Amino acid sequence: MKDKLILRALAGETLPVPPIWMMRQAGRYLPEYRATRAEAGDFLSLCYNPELAAEVTLQPIRRYGFDAAILFADILLIPDALGMDLWFVTGEGPRLSTVTTAEEAAALKPADSIHEHLAPVYETVRILSRELPEETTLIGFAGAPWTVATYMIAGQGTKDQGPAHALKAENRPVFEAVMDRVTEATIEYLSAQIEAGAEVVKLFDSWAGSLKGQDFDDYALAPAKRIIAALKARHPDTPIIAFPREAGERYVGFAKATGADCVALDNSVDAEWAAEHVQVDGCVQGNLASSHMVTGGQALIDETRAIVRAFSKGPHIFNLGHGITPDADPENVQLMIDTVREGAKG
Ligand code: CP3
Repeated sequence: MKDKLILRALAGETLPVPPIWMMRQAGRYLPEYRATRAEAGDFLSLCYNPELAAEVTLQPIRRYGFDAAILFADILLIPDALGMDLWFVTGEGPRLSTVTTAEEAAALKPADSIHEHLAPVYETVRILSRELPEETTLIGFAGAPWTVATYMIAGQGTKDQGPAHALKAENRPVFEAVMDRVTEATIEYLSAQIEAGAEVVKLFDSWAGSLKGQDFDDYALAPAKRIIAALKARHPDTPIIAFPREAGERYVGFAKATGADCVALDNSVDAEWAAEHVQVDGCVQGNLASSHMVTGGQALIDETRAIVRAFSKGPHIFNLGHGITPDADPENVQLMIDTVREGAKG
């Protein structure tokens, strides 16, 4: 199956036209997603309903023919499976019970007990590996430990990850116990996704940018390295994409240091700079600002072309720098795809 374009790029091949997919490609900007979500009831019910989760994963593939599908789920299913309470407040985002004491950390379930709770997700993966077009790559994912821990410690999303930074400073053993449990669970979870049929896995460290210096080494780089080493030992042929979002200059060398096959770049990074300093080590993914999916027009076309050109001398997967937002116009997504692929025509 190495003829799939995404797998070729991840293996280090420079392709004439970069393969393309989009973070949050199944989401609220699509009317068909909103309809299926309404049918499921709420967001978490959708995540745990294999038929409907597979359906929303397939919707952007049918509409746009992306080169990859990403499993529909959420990074916060891991805290849910570890026994924390999780719910989503419409218009606000996730809410969780918190873990900030030694007792609460000890009450988290063991990593190898998550599978029963997550069985519906593995079933979604199995359905998708049967139903996806043969040229489409199936990507599984999990949140990186730091990002997941920031939600577990704060009980919600935070602008600056303050509560997690505070726990790290004030009670490092508890902080590290949470990080360790999430790291172990993530290895089990991604391994099970691969066994169910995920062909690539991606580790989302959305808040990596708030870790500086030694903290970045200890809590972004080291857990990614540990997870990747464990997965490579069990599944040596499955490529892994790491996304240490807003890592800035710490993107340099991240793939080599962690063993990742590809590094995903957010849109704060200049593409020409990243081609020189990050793509030298292998495949990169990114990095169009998702705001172009709202505003469209010539700016979208110009910036898309500039990114394709900047990364054209090495392996590249075209993507946004972060997830597409609910206010995006589905026609702008088509314009982005046409612009990326225009080089292939004629
Ligand atoms: O990319 C994909 O399409 C795959 C599915 C996916 C979702 N969330 C679906 C989702 C993935 C990979 C995620 C990752 C995720 N979830 C991250 C890391 C990536 C990132 O975006 O930074 C984080 C931090 C979360 C946690 C989370 N889930 C938050 C903070 C929210 C609320 C924010 C919002 O947009 O409302 C979610 C909800 C969520 N996850 C939605 C989707 C499609 C919207 C839910 C809805 O339908 O109301």
